[in-house]
Amino acid sequence: IDLLVRSSGGNASSPIMYGLMHEDINNSGDGGIYAELIRNRAFQGSDKFPVSLEGWSSVNGATLKLQKQTKPLSVALPVSVNVAGIKEKVGLANSGYWGIDVKVENYTGSFYVKGAYEGFFTASLQSVLTNEAFGSVEIASKSVKDDWVQHSFTLIPTKAAPSSNNTFAITFDTAGLKDGSLDFNLITLFPPTYNNRPNGLRVDLVEAFAALKPKFLRFPGGNMLEGNTISTFWKWNETIGPLKDRPGMAGVWDYHLTTGLGLIEYMEWCDDLHLEPILGVWAGLALDGAYSPLDKVDEAIQYALDELEFLTGPVSTKWGAVRASLGYPKPWTIKYVEIGNEDWLAGRPTAYDAYKKYRFPMFLKAFSQKHPEIQVIASPSVFDDMVIPAPAAGDYHPYLTPDAMVASFNKFDRLSKQNLTLIGEAASTHPNGGKGWDGNLMSNPWWGGSVGEAIFLIGAERNADRVIGATYAPGLRNLNRWQWGMTIVQHAADPALTTLSTSWYLLGNHPLTKTLPVTASSGGIGPLYYVAGTGEKGTGVFKAAVYNATQPVPVSIRFEGLEAKGSTATLTVLTGPENPYGTNDPFTHANVVEETKSTLIASEGGIFEFSLSRLSVAVLETGET
Ligand code: AHR
Repeated sequence: IDLLVRSSGGNASSPIMYGLMHEDINNSGDGGIYAELIRNRAFQGSDKFPVSLEGWSSVNGATLKLQKQTKPLSVALPVSVNVAGIKEKVGLANSGYWGIDVKVENYTGSFYVKGAYEGFFTASLQSVLTNEAFGSVEIASKSVKDDWVQHSFTLIPTKAAPSSNNTFAITFDTAGLKDGSLDFNLITLFPPTYNNRPNGLRVDLVEAFAALKPKFLRFPGGNMLEGNTISTFWKWNETIGPLKDRPGMAGVWDYHLTTGLGLIEYMEWCDDLHLEPILGVWAGLALDGAYSPLDKVDEAIQYALDELEFLTGPVSTKWGAVRASLGYPKPWTIKYVEIGNEDWLAGRPTAYDAYKKYRFPMFLKAFSQKHPEIQVIASPSVFDDMVIPAPAAGDYHPYLTPDAMVASFNKFDRLSKQNLTLIGEAASTHPNGGKGWDGNLMSNPWWGGSVGEAIFLIGAERNADRVIGATYAPGLRNLNRWQWGMTIVQHAADPALTTLSTSWYLLGNHPLTKTLPVTASSGGIGPLYYVAGTGEKGTGVFKAAVYNATQPVPVSIRFEGLEAKGSTATLTVLTGPENPYGTNDPFTHANVVEETKSTLIASEGGIFEFSLSRLSVAVLETGET
C-alpha cells in the first residue's frame, strides 16, 4: 500500500478526542477509584438495599447492633452500630472491599462515637490469617454521653502486609465505659490518595488512566445518573459537603453507594488530570421507564440549572455561595452538559415519545437561554434514529462485535456539521457470530475486540471535526464484582492485581490537531484502516490498524513537504496473540499485548516502509526518536 499524506486539506480535530467515562458499576467507585478502605462505613441503605453489617465483625465477642437512634449522627446517616462487650478490650473490625492493602505509609482515618468513655481507642490493621498486627495507633477518647464526637487519627504501619487479606479494627477498654456500650458511625480510613486529596482517589488507578492522556471525563453515568426509579436518581446535592451529610443512594448496579465520590470529587478528578468535564444532568427519566410528566419537567430543569450554578456560579449566587461555603470559592468552568443518559433505552414508547415531544426540547431551550456558552448534548444520537434538534449534539453508545466495529469505520463520514456527536461509551462486547445481548457477552476485553475498537476509533478520528470525542466504557471493574466485564482496567484491594486490559491501549497518546488527506497510489482502505494528521508538536502522525489479512500488509508512506532522505520517524506497533480471544489476566499477570517501538529512516523521497500483520495497531510519528 503506497500512501501520500498531503500537507494541507483535511479537517480540524477535536481538542478532547479521547477521554474517560465513570459511573459506579462493578465497584468502580466504592471499592474502586474512590480510595476509602472501609466497606459500609456508615451503615447506609435504602428500601432496595436494607442497612446491614456487611463488612463488619465483632472483636473479642463484642455484640454489634444496628440502631436507629433518636439522636443520630445526622439526618443523612440515621443508623449507627452499638458495640457492647464483657471482655477487657472489645470492638469491631472491617474487612474492606474484599481486603485491605497495608503498606508502610500514612493511613488517615476518623470515626464518630457517642457514649461516655474514659480511656483510649486503638485503631489497628492486622492479618485475617495470622492476626499479626501491622500497625496500630492509640486515640484518646473525647467521647461523651449524649453527643457524637469525631475522633481523627493517622496510622502508620510498621510493616507491609504480605497480602491484602487484612482487617481494620477499632477497640476500646470496657473498664472505661460509663453505660456499658458505645455507638459508632462513619468509620473511614484512607491510604495516601492521588495528589494527596482528602476524601480522594486511589493512586494506581488514577495513574493507569493518566497514562492514557485522556482529555475529558463524562460522569456520573451511565445508568447510575438515571436511577432505578423516578425518585432514586443521582441527586447531585446529596453528594456534596461533609460525608456525614451524604445519605448515599440505591445504586443501579446491585449495591448501595456511599456517594463519597460526589460531584466535587469528580471535579477534582478533572482538575488533577486536566480533563474537560462532560457533566450528565438528570433528565427526568428512570431506568424503570418512569418519566417526568409535562408539568414536572420544569422542576427537573431547575434542578439541573442549580447544579450548574453550584459548579460555575459566582459566590454571589445562591448555589455559588453554597460551593464557597464548602471551601471552593473559585467557580469551575463547564463547557459540555449532557441531558440524561440513553434516553431511548428506557424502551418504553411513551417515555421515548415524551422525550421527543417535550422533555428534551424544554431542557435544550432552558440551557440555550441560560448557558449559551455550553454545548448541550442529547443522550441519544442520530445513529439511534433520532432527530437531535440544533444546536444540541448527540451521544452514541456502540457496544458491538469486533466485526461490527470494523464495519462502522465509515459511519462518521456521514455526520454533518449539524450532527456533532460524542461517543460517550463504546466497546467490543460480544464475539462475532454470537448471540449478542441475548447470550454471550464477553467477560473481559480481548485482543480481537480491541483491534476492532481501534479501527472504529480511527474512523472517528478521521471525522473529529464532528465527533466531539470518544471513550471506552465502563472504565473500571473490581475483580470481586461482576456486572460488566469489559473495562479498561481491572483491580482489587491488592494493587498487584491491577490489570490494564487489551483495550487500555487506546490511541490517546498521539493526539491530532488536524487531519490530513491521504492519497493511495495503490491499495485503499481495508485491510489497512488509517488516519493521518498533524500531531501536537507539529509532527506528521499516521495511525493504522489491520484486522483481517492473510499476509502482513506492506506499507510505504511519505509526508508531503518531508521528502528528505534520512529523516526519521518513530513507529509504535501493538500486536497480540494469534488467537483473537487472548486477554490480559490479572491472576497470571499474562499480558498478551506486545508493544514495539522502532526508529524508521526515510529512503529517497522521504519514504518510510514497514509492514503490519493481522490484528495489529500502529502509530507512526515523524521527527520523533
Ligand atoms: O457502560 C455500562 C452501561 O451501558 C451504562 O450504564 C449505560 O449507559 C449503557 O447502557
